[in-house]
Amino acid sequence: MRSPSFFPRPQPLLLLLLLLLSVRSVWAQEPTGAALSGPPVVPDCPEACTCALVGQANCSALALPAVPAGLSRLLRELLLDRNRVRALPPGAFAGACALLRLDLRENGLRSVHLRAFWGLGALRWLDLSANQLETLEPGTFSPLRALRSLSLAGNRLALLEPAALGALPLLHALSLQDNALSVLAPGLLAGLPALDALRLRGNPWVCGCALRPLCTWLRRHPRSASEAETLLCVSPGRQTLSPLTAFSDGAFKHCAQPLAARDLAVIYALGPVSFLASLATCLALGSVLTACRARRRRRRTVARRPPRRPPDPGPDFDGPASSADPGSPAAQA
Ligand SMILES: *[C@@H]1O[C@H](CO)[C@@H](O)[C@H](O)[C@H]1NC(C)=O
Repeated sequence: MRSPSFFPRPQPLLLLLLLLLSVRSVWAQEPTGAALSGPPVVPDCPEACTCALVGQANCSALALPAVPAGLSRLLRELLLDRNRVRALPPGAFAGACALLRLDLRENGLRSVHLRAFWGLGALRWLDLSANQLETLEPGTFSPLRALRSLSLAGNRLALLEPAALGALPLLHALSLQDNALSVLAPGLLAGLPALDALRLRGNPWVCGCALRPLCTWLRRHPRSASEAETLLCVSPGRQTLSPLTAFSDGAFKHCAQPLAARDLAVIYALGPVSFLASLATCLALGSVLTACRARRRRRRTVARRPPRRPPDPGPDFDGPASSADPGSPAAQA
């Protein structure tokens, strides 16, 4: 005879067994289901592109006028070189958050929106070479925190603000070759602590004080003699070419040292303080002057009155006479 306390136990056990069996069958079915549906999981390929390798979309040389829409979040590599993408709008690569490599060479690219690269936090290689970029907005590359290599070679950049690159902690290769740069902004290299390969050839560098940070960087990062020889700057005034690496720190002795934070604070404080001080001095001088004048005038009137008094016919004549005094209107004015 079963006791009532034993009775409920077999039921949960049976349920557990059934559950286990069903889970096992689901596990067993999944791979077979995938195998039946044909090729392995391929990220959805952008239209017109070919996706031979998993995670790689080859959209090279297809005369595409824009970045394909609806990029997959499984995409690792996007080859968009030799197309006709003239502008990158905000969020151009939205969705492709796992992208590691982006090739945008030879597109005739003229403008890159400030938020074009938003969402590409994993990107390591970005090639923007052989385009027609003239400027880059501040913050353009700041979402690319994982960027290792950036090429801006063969564009028309005449100025590269440090804020355009921002702080790229992992960037080790930067190419600025064949642009129109004459100086490198002082703060630019400061935001790139991992940089060790900097390509600078083919720019009209001007040998001047503004080149000091670059020369300092070059001295700390020696390069092959053949490459160093090709890094030339044009002396202002003279048309002589000098290698950038030839400038020692002594060559910049005549240049003003950059100001320290304390100096700047003093300079900023000095402006308003000197303004207030000059205002106070003016007021004080003005009041002293008017006081002196008033006293002198008073003395003069006091000195003039006694000689007039004797011919004075009466006390009632005194009032009109003083108002007719030539010194009086001036005193009122
Ligand atoms: C991409 O496609 C083009 C043309 O179809 C081909 O020439 C090129 O080799 C491909 N690139 C890669 C990396 O597969």
